[in-house]
Amino acid sequence: MNSQNILVTGASGLIGGAIWHRLESRGHRVYSLNRDDSGAPFYYSADSGEMRLDPHIELDAVVNLAGANISARRWSEEYKRLIMDSRVELTRALAVALADSAHKPRVLLSASAIGFYGDTGSETVDESSPRGTDFLADVAGSWEAACQPAIDAGIRTVNMRFGVVLSRDGGVLKEMLLPFKLGGGGKLGDGRQYMSWIALSDVISLIDLCLGDNGISGPINFVSGQPATNAEFTRALGKALRRPAFSPFLRAWLIRLLFGEMGETLLLGSNRVVSRRHEEIGFTPSAPTIADALNLELE
Ligand SMILES: NC(=O)c1ccc[n+]([C@@H]2O[C@H](COP(=O)([O-])OP(=O)(O)OC[C@H]3O[C@@H](n4cnc5c(N)ncnc54)[C@H](OP(=O)(O)O)[C@@H]3O)[C@@H](O)[C@H]2O)c1
Repeated sequence: MNSQNILVTGASGLIGGAIWHRLESRGHRVYSLNRDDSGAPFYYSADSGEMRLDPHIELDAVVNLAGANISARRWSEEYKRLIMDSRVELTRALAVALADSAHKPRVLLSASAIGFYGDTGSETVDESSPRGTDFLADVAGSWEAACQPAIDAGIRTVNMRFGVVLSRDGGVLKEMLLPFKLGGGGKLGDGRQYMSWIALSDVISLIDLCLGDNGISGPINFVSGQPATNAEFTRALGKALRRPAFSPFLRAWLIRLLFGEMGETLLLGSNRVVSRRHEEIGFTPSAPTIADALNLELE
């Protein structure tokens, strides 16, 4: 790719920071979407719904990752509204502004999540599977639907349905490192729930592919293709860190008590997600197994 102008929303986050670094190292000019009105070229106000895109900067691509953290606290009704609106309202305002701009970008890559499918138990699902019915499925469905103005304006749009992104720098893995290093690592609940994960480095490779290939659009599961049960993940992490992983340190009832609906969904829910599109778009993960991913991200 020649040097391009690329807007990244959620640029300060785990994925945003990594993709920013990659894009800049490739010689692109990368811009963030600011939430305080300090005269920055790209600005969004959640209060007024104003989305301001600098007309003098002709964007080639947009990577939309912004959203309030879903695991930061218990899900009160107020926090659920923030989880929803910080994704859906922002994405809709962005899609409308891009559609209305004189110079439309070639491509919009917009975050979504495998929560789209709901709790799938031990059933394997892929991009052709229907949307689930719980709160996160509603969020993901509405988030994707909010991209429609951009699609209608002819902007190639990819919905990145992220699985659990593994990185030592943030997210689930970082949270788990300390208890495991202290020897207190163990499975959650009965450990039979599936987690569909992907190494951060593979996320960045897949974003790169989606940015560059004009033939790719629609939903793509950002997963490794080999979901692990929580018990398998726990064993693999203990092995990678050379620490025991035997203590059942969080039983299901305690998770429900401590974390409510958030814990029930994120820690006890089961998502066994693969991709039927990776082969078609020519993507092969560099970390196909959980052991590969942990070795890669923890080395
Ligand atoms: N990482 C995963 O395992 C995973 C899995 C599934 C889906 N996803 C989705 O993919 C996206 C990127 O993930 P990530 O791990 O990079 O997320 P992250 O580290 O939590 O970063 C989220 C980004 O969104 C911004 N943000 C926070 N609250 C906001 C609000 N109220 N309005 C607008 N922006 C807000 C943050 O900016 P500040 O620094 O200003 O707070 C940050 O730049 C997220 O939307 C996430 O839900 C991630």
